[in-house]
Amino acid sequence: MYRVLKVGGSVCWQIGYHISDKCVIPLDYLVYDLFTSLSKDLDFPLTLRNRIIWTFGHGLNSINRFSGRHEVILWFTKGEQKIFNLDEVRVPQKYPGKKAYRGPNKGKLSGNPLGKNPSDVWEIPNVSAKHVEKTDHPCQFPIAIPQRLIKALTLPDGMVLDPFAGSGTTGAAAILEGRRFAGSEITPKYYKTAHKRLRDTINGTLRIREDKPVVAPNPNSAVAKLPEEFKRIREEKNGEKH
Ligand SMILES: C[S@@+](CC[C@H](N)C(=O)[O-])C[C@H]1O[C@@H](n2cnc3c(N)ncnc32)[C@H](O)[C@@H]1O
Repeated sequence: MYRVLKVGGSVCWQIGYHISDKCVIPLDYLVYDLFTSLSKDLDFPLTLRNRIIWTFGHGLNSINRFSGRHEVILWFTKGEQKIFNLDEVRVPQKYPGKKAYRGPNKGKLSGNPLGKNPSDVWEIPNVSAKHVEKTDHPCQFPIAIPQRLIKALTLPDGMVLDPFAGSGTTGAAAILEGRRFAGSEITPKYYKTAHKRLRDTINGTLRIREDKPVVAPNPNSAVAKLPEEFKRIREEKNGEKH
C-alpha cells in the first residue's frame, strides 16, 4: 500500500474494536503504531492528520457495558499533505444566521456561506437491514463515508484504491465523485456484489443515501411516543426507589 501511494497522498483506515468477554481492544491504536513505526525511517513517513470518529445511532445493545456506537477512521498522508478540499465537504451550520457581536465584523454574518467544517466526529447512519444501500455484505459501510474522504482528499480523476473492497462501497463513492478506482476482494460472493454495484453506479441506477444531517425524530410520530407499557414499567421501577 505504501509503495503504490503517491507522495502527499492519503491513506484512510477505518477500524473498530476487538471485543472479547473481558476487554475491549481499540484496534486503531495498533494500526497507528504499525503504520508510524514501519514508516518512520523512510523518506516519506506516514503522518496522522486526523483521527475521525464515525458515530451511528443503531447497533447491538450491550447489557454489561455501554453499547458501541462508533468506529475510527485514521487519516494519514505519505509525507506532507498535499490536498484538503474543505469547501467540498462543508456541512450546514446549526445557526447559519449567527452574527459577530463584537470587533470589526460586529453585526456581520460570522459563518462561512458554504457551511462549516464537518469536524472529526461524523454522524452518519450505519447500513442496517432497511438502509437503501444494504447488500448481502455483513459489514458494509455507508457510501457517505468514503465519499466525504474522496471529495476532501483527492482531486477529480485521482486514483482511489480499496484493497478490502467488500461490497464495493469505496468504488461506488469514487465513481460518483469522478475518480478512478481499483479494488480487490478475496471472497467471490462479495466480489460479485461489488462488481454489480460498480456497474449500477456507472449506469446511474445505484440507490444511495445522500450525505445529509441526521434528522431528529418527529415527536408526534407513533414510534417516537413512549408506549404506555414502557411508561408503566418505568413508573414501577422509579416507585421501587422511593
Ligand atoms: C470490513 S469488510 C469491507 C467492507 C466494505 N468497506 C464495504 O462497505 O462493503 C473487509 C473485506 O475485506 C475482504 N478481505 C479480507 N482479506 C482480504 C484480502 N487479503 N484481500 C482482499 N480482500 C480481503 C473481506 O472478504 C471483506 O469483504
